[in-house]
Amino acid sequence: MLKQELEDGQSSLADPAFRADVLNGLAARPRAIPARWFYDRRGSELFEAITDLPEYYPTRTETALLERVSPELGALAADNAAVVEFGSGSSTKTPILLRAINPSAYVPIDISGDFLRQSARDLGQAFPGLPVYPVEADFLRPVPLPLQVEGLPKLGFFPGSTIGNMNAWHAVGLLRAMRSWLGEGARLLIGMDRIKSPEILIPAYDDAQGVTAAFNLNLLERINRELDGTIPLDAFAHRAIWNPDAARIEMHLEALRDVSFDVDGRPFGMHAGETIHTENSHKYGPNGARQLLRAGGWTPIAEWTDPRDWFALILCEAQPIRTAP
Ligand code: TRP
Repeated sequence: MLKQELEDGQSSLADPAFRADVLNGLAARPRAIPARWFYDRRGSELFEAITDLPEYYPTRTETALLERVSPELGALAADNAAVVEFGSGSSTKTPILLRAINPSAYVPIDISGDFLRQSARDLGQAFPGLPVYPVEADFLRPVPLPLQVEGLPKLGFFPGSTIGNMNAWHAVGLLRAMRSWLGEGARLLIGMDRIKSPEILIPAYDDAQGVTAAFNLNLLERINRELDGTIPLDAFAHRAIWNPDAARIEMHLEALRDVSFDVDGRPFGMHAGETIHTENSHKYGPNGARQLLRAGGWTPIAEWTDPRDWFALILCEAQPIRTAP
């Protein structure tokens, strides 16, 4: 099936998982649609634009931190490691890591095939001689690693505080899954955003130029296009709120007036002020971060933060599988 056919709005050809998630999510209370559906072509482009925004500190902070600690990382990493990156996107941080540890293979895993192939090509040119084995997959399901890296020690790379986009239950599940995919003796370098003042956090998810708003609203456009939706976009606004109890930023799409619409032939209604919850971004203090990692089967062995303590990079070792406590 041609991708273009999907984009031309033939609902019968839409991804059945997308249809099911949207129809179930709009029928549920509270309404919620999983964040993975943000990332169509336009969504991935808007997300790249978010990472350049003046208010969006995480990418800049993590990249600078990675630069700063790369000599230490080089000393800590195994000689012939295979780097396995989860959610590689456009892989802007990757070259820093690859230069630092000089691995023997690189395995980028991403849900967006277009971005994956493009960045694999770019990296191949920047690092001639480095074998790159891209895997197009949703790492929330089991990921088969390429056979070529089977015997090599693994360094997982999970930057961007993507772990924060899961609740603790799912985060622990994913960390344990990574622990088993990467195997005995593996290491994991993970980026986690710190808890900080809502005055810094909220603008990072609700910028002055409205790029994050466009990113959130693009989900509704995608629903209209791919699932025969009639959602009036001007009836919705992007909201970013800090939920202090859950220590997370929540993104919502809020109805500005009473509104009714169809998706895939089914009618839905929302009252003014009701929202569709579209994303969480959990933030962690130092103890919470380490506890989460331990629960997920990883022992922290080194940790770095920027001078403002806004973002942490944590290097972990796979816990040995024990049969006794
Ligand atoms: N994990 C990052 C964060 O939570 C990136 C991200 C994921 C993001 N989804 C987002 C950023 C939605 C802004 C909006 O910050």
